[in-house]
Amino acid sequence: MVLHGPNLNLLGEREPQIYGGVTLDTINRELRNLADELQVELAIFQSNHEGALIDRIHQARGAEQGILINPAAYTHTSVALRDALAAVALPVVEVHLTNIYTRESFRHQSLTAPVAAGLICGFGADSYLWGLRALVRLLRSEEKAVKK
Ligand code: DQA
Repeated sequence: MVLHGPNLNLLGEREPQIYGGVTLDTINRELRNLADELQVELAIFQSNHEGALIDRIHQARGAEQGILINPAAYTHTSVALRDALAAVALPVVEVHLTNIYTRESFRHQSLTAPVAAGLICGFGADSYLWGLRALVRLLRSEEKAVKK
């Protein structure tokens, strides 16, 4: 499952000097192309609402195998989102378009990263593509370990 947090629906017109010109539709199209190549299915969801993201994470229980998430501003504020990710206990990869550690100090802390397997940031739309590859590799290596 791919989750996009608040304001990411405005990519393309939102602060292009920071986020570039890429739209969320383009990112989703690139993710779907990569998913085809990797032979995985994607459920993609964007919301500007913390509760809606949490509800979608709860619905993933028993339905999805892993979560690729850009929590956007909730990265830095939402204990509830972090708790939801921890509660469902699915493998999580966190991504950001920008390198949050080179930006304002309030972006330097991610509340969600400690419950993720890993974090990829700073590569624009490619952060999502590296993130999907990382998540699929992680899931496949876990599958292999279970079979052994
Ligand atoms: C972001 C970084 C966050 O700090 C910011 O609030 C966003 C986007 C990124 O992808 O670079 O909305 O998650």
